[in-house]
Amino acid sequence: MAKIKLENVSFLYGKGTSYCKEALKNVNIEIKEGSITGLIGHTGSGKSTMLQLLNGLAKPAEGKVYLDGEDIWEKPKEIGKVRFRVGLVMQYPEYQLFEETVEKDIAFGPKNMGLSESEISERIREAIDFVGLSPDVLSKNPFDLSGGQKRRVAIAGVIAMRPEVLVLDEPAAGLDPQGRDIILGGVFKYREKTGATVIIVSHSMEDMARLCDNIIVLSHGEVVLNGTRDEVFAQSQMLEKIGLAVPQITLLMHELNARGIIVDNGIYTEEAAAAEIARLFGGAR
Ligand SMILES: Nc1ncnc2c1ncn2[C@@H]1O[C@H](COP(=O)(O)OP(=O)(O)OP(=O)(O)O)[C@@H](O)[C@H]1O
Ligand SMILES: [Mg+2]
Repeated sequence: MAKIKLENVSFLYGKGTSYCKEALKNVNIEIKEGSITGLIGHTGSGKSTMLQLLNGLAKPAEGKVYLDGEDIWEKPKEIGKVRFRVGLVMQYPEYQLFEETVEKDIAFGPKNMGLSESEISERIREAIDFVGLSPDVLSKNPFDLSGGQKRRVAIAGVIAMRPEVLVLDEPAAGLDPQGRDIILGGVFKYREKTGATVIIVSHSMEDMARLCDNIIVLSHGEVVLNGTRDEVFAQSQMLEKIGLAVPQITLLMHELNARGIIVDNGIYTEEAAAAEIARLFGGAR
């Protein structure tokens, strides 16, 4: 059974007004338990809207959202429970920090879940470890931290709820490569350790290639591609048509194949490409 399933889901902003906008149209997707799924699409394609449907922050105009086979809107009063199970890290979450210490900020979610003090402090320790923060930041005021550190605090606040599904909207946007690696590495570790299902939005095809098992492509509110990473990145022409690109290095491999130099098409990193080219020249892989 799929961990999450969207069935004929549509979503409208400004329903019944003159600026009514259909942000998602008849979306059907299934997300496998324990997988990392990347959601990509140009700006305004409906990515953030889709994420908000997954934890009940938004309600579909039509269709159903299932979590472990159960319609999340079956009992609307219990939607709060869904928000603990499906943890959403919004775009630029650092702007939503509000407590006077990092510790209190990370504790906010677990406190709402009604956990004991000792359970909360254990979860805080675990969460900061995932995002690579040291315990001495806990007593600091979040506003005294760097932008990248604030982002990590915000992510730790969601991880501390130990969600079964971790949903992240552009968690690495605007960070330097090191900050990006720490956050994406932390997300990967969280999945490895807990078996959680991860859904992540990113504009970086390189990051998506490195991290994701499956990829969903949205264009103007519709799912236009949905498959394994290899299946989706094999569609470089289709991706280009909707203004997206496969990783540069993958494009180079496709181009070599098109010119009759037979190399592995499913290559996403420079190291793998270097090994493949060395093989062509008779070197060791
Ligand atoms: N609060 C809102 N009111 C009205 N329209 C909205 C609202 N939020 C989003 N939209 C519209 O819905 C569509 C989908 O927006 P959404 O934010 O889901 O896209 P996105 O793929 O996340 O874009 P980005 O890459 O810029 O974050 C866009 O056309 C957007 O203008
Ligand atoms: Mg968005």
